[in-house]
Amino acid sequence: MTKFILFLILNCLAIGHTLAQNSTLQKQGTATQLVVDGAPFLILGGELGNSSAACVQDIEHIFPKLERMGLNTVLVPAYWDLIEPTEGSFDFTLTDKVLQQARRNNLKVVFLWFGAWKNSMSCYAPLWFKENYKRFPRAYTRNGKPLEIASAFSEAVYEADQRAFSKWMQHIAAADKEEGTVIMIQIENEIGMLEDARDYSREANKAFNAPVPEEFMTYLQKNKKTLHPQMLKKWESQGCKKQGNWQEVFGADIYTDEIFMAWHYAKYVERLAQTARSIYNVPLYVNAAMNSRGRKPGEYPSAGPLAHLIDVWHCGAPSIDMLAPDLYDNGFIDWTAQYKLHNNPLFIPEIGLTDNNGVRAFYIFGEHDAIGISPFSIENGSDSPGSPLVQSYAKLKELMPLLTKYQGKGVMKGLLFDGKNKERIITDDDLTITARHFFTLPWDPRATDGSPWPEGGGILLKLSENEYIVAGNGIVLEFAKTSEKQASEARKLLGEDGFALKNGQQAEAKHDDKFKGMRCGIGYVDEVEVDKEGKLRYIRRLNGDQDHQGRHVRISVGDFKILHVRLYEYR
Ligand code: DGJ
Repeated sequence: MTKFILFLILNCLAIGHTLAQNSTLQKQGTATQLVVDGAPFLILGGELGNSSAACVQDIEHIFPKLERMGLNTVLVPAYWDLIEPTEGSFDFTLTDKVLQQARRNNLKVVFLWFGAWKNSMSCYAPLWFKENYKRFPRAYTRNGKPLEIASAFSEAVYEADQRAFSKWMQHIAAADKEEGTVIMIQIENEIGMLEDARDYSREANKAFNAPVPEEFMTYLQKNKKTLHPQMLKKWESQGCKKQGNWQEVFGADIYTDEIFMAWHYAKYVERLAQTARSIYNVPLYVNAAMNSRGRKPGEYPSAGPLAHLIDVWHCGAPSIDMLAPDLYDNGFIDWTAQYKLHNNPLFIPEIGLTDNNGVRAFYIFGEHDAIGISPFSIENGSDSPGSPLVQSYAKLKELMPLLTKYQGKGVMKGLLFDGKNKERIITDDDLTITARHFFTLPWDPRATDGSPWPEGGGILLKLSENEYIVAGNGIVLEFAKTSEKQASEARKLLGEDGFALKNGQQAEAKHDDKFKGMRCGIGYVDEVEVDKEGKLRYIRRLNGDQDHQGRHVRISVGDFKILHVRLYEYR
């Protein structure tokens, strides 16, 4: 009998083991890492265009190209309308094809649940849902116009969405338990209200006039010190009330409407997230369309998982692991800084497909300990080995063991330059590192012939005192002791060959300065590759003209490289 009970227990443990998820999040210092197959992982991804996973032939055709491009992960929509074409009958053919093709082409998968909402709208709800607007009510504008946006206040909408989502998740759990190909799930896509900042349906109006839920009021009070500055300002504007309806607590304007709406979207998503967790426990995220170009709530998909609404989303949907920005607008550096927060790791599930994606990937891993990046409509990108994204992903794949070892420890910086933002000065104890766009060197005709500057960028990783990895493309770095800064100002005025400009003029300007302290020089610069254990393997030494006779470290525009730099000190 005892033996039998022991057998049952061991069996249960074994089943529990096979059902355990293959990916999870862990903290390392200030970073949140995605762990896949037992090791920290960086998503070098791409998202398929919206209709590119809607037939098996397209999936078969596209996936081999993604492997050639060097992706390790593909983000793929799962379409509710094709999964449940008739109410209650489910078809997982496309999901299975995605899993099969991903495995065949060495890719991990992030599935995107295109359920009740896609870019605000409910276009991926099946026809039986769309037609039955009495059973599945719409959101309304202030003027009573029904929208093709299912109402987040309808239990029937939720139940239909949840049933399909849960059947699909159960299918994934069964189909993926051995392989662990699915590493994250995105719930819905770019949720948000359009035309007005909130839903004006009868149910929504009732909720709007009710007190702000105690749960959220308590969260605000408990987290007052770390609230997003915009949330704090809004709450303070009405005297940090501890209770009241939405307008009493936050004021009567469209920004309050947006907060209210975000709360209800978050609550809806939380229920789906709990469903997902109970079936197949992989990390979960929601993506947001940006509130860019000066648009006001109602003019962009309002109330989505946006940075200024992070507190609403955190409190309303605690089972969601990250709010992820879809970046199509100018101002990449600012947007990424808005989403890498003490309480939110950076993952970019969508970014417009451009030749700049390669250096931007370097930037976010170096600057923000990002979880990953994924250009949109990736199947339209180039798979040529020389294309910037292919080169970038190949080098980042090599660097992965090193970057993940040092994430969250404060020893990495990201570099990103263009024709306007050309320089960044980094101070590291007594070292001043001046990093610039490669075109600030006067050697490349493209720098001055009026062509637009491609973005240059990379990662600066400090391995130890006077030892760095410099990796990326289109960058140049100079290292100086802070105490020799004055002298280096004089050096900046020297000609491109390193000689004085005219009759020693520039050197004379600093003639009176007495030099004190140590100087720092370049010991060597080696181009290296990184093996699977993170060890460096020598390829070639870059000296003489290739480091301006020991004056700088550079990677020209067009080439992605990994350099191992040793500095030394002298007086
Ligand atoms: C953002 C959405 O999330 C994507 O599905 C797609 O519609 C792109 N915009 C742009 O085409």
